[in-house]
Amino acid sequence: MKLLITAGPTREPLDPVRFLSNRSSGKMGYALAEEAAARGHEVTLISGPVALQPPKNAQVVRVVTAADMLAAVKLHLKKCDVLIMAAAVADWRPARVGKRKMKKGGAQRLTLELQPTPDILKSIGKLKGRRIFVGFAAETHNLRAEAKRKLREKNLDLIVANDVTVPGAGFEVETNCVTIFDAQSEEQWPLLAKRDVAERILDRIEDLGKF
Ligand code: CTP
Repeated sequence: MKLLITAGPTREPLDPVRFLSNRSSGKMGYALAEEAAARGHEVTLISGPVALQPPKNAQVVRVVTAADMLAAVKLHLKKCDVLIMAAAVADWRPARVGKRKMKKGGAQRLTLELQPTPDILKSIGKLKGRRIFVGFAAETHNLRAEAKRKLREKNLDLIVANDVTVPGAGFEVETNCVTIFDAQSEEQWPLLAKRDVAERILDRIEDLGKF
């Protein structure tokens, strides 16, 4: 099958030297890309800024902002049958981006005005067709309710949710502890290496697609 996988954070610039971002390392998305390519699938990986080696046998497209990632997803989705949105897309970007470095100028307080970035999954909902869409949800509370809401609202076939407050799950670590939901069921997996989580996710996708 042909997979489009997104990974890593996005960066939303504030001025030439600063940005808003998040703690995503990209490891989960890269593990998915490695595992899918090792299984012989065709993989395009759209990656935010990360410090990881590119996966073997995958086409890598590098992006910085959420808007760049949306444009790249739109461009590459046409030739793919599966989209896995493992990227931690920044939800907010500065409303104004300074051309010059912002100076302190003796100020005691600074208020930033932010505006929402595009929701990539929602923006491409109409292009879904018969494709399989898989999302991720990193939560600190109400994991089940939030995962089910995102599955429904983003028109996903599967969502992989993890509680980032659990030790060994989520950001900047080699392991993850996730619950995977489809419209009918949920399955909690033990703490596993991200590569093993990737294997299980791909097993589920292959079952869905009967590839
Ligand atoms: N996502 C996306 N575009 C965004 C934000 C998120 O496509 N601007 C995708 C993520 O890649 C992930 C899924 O949507 O697969 C859920 O992301 P998450 O950040 O957990 O959800 P949000 O929609 O941002 O919801 P909330 O802020 O309420 O948690």
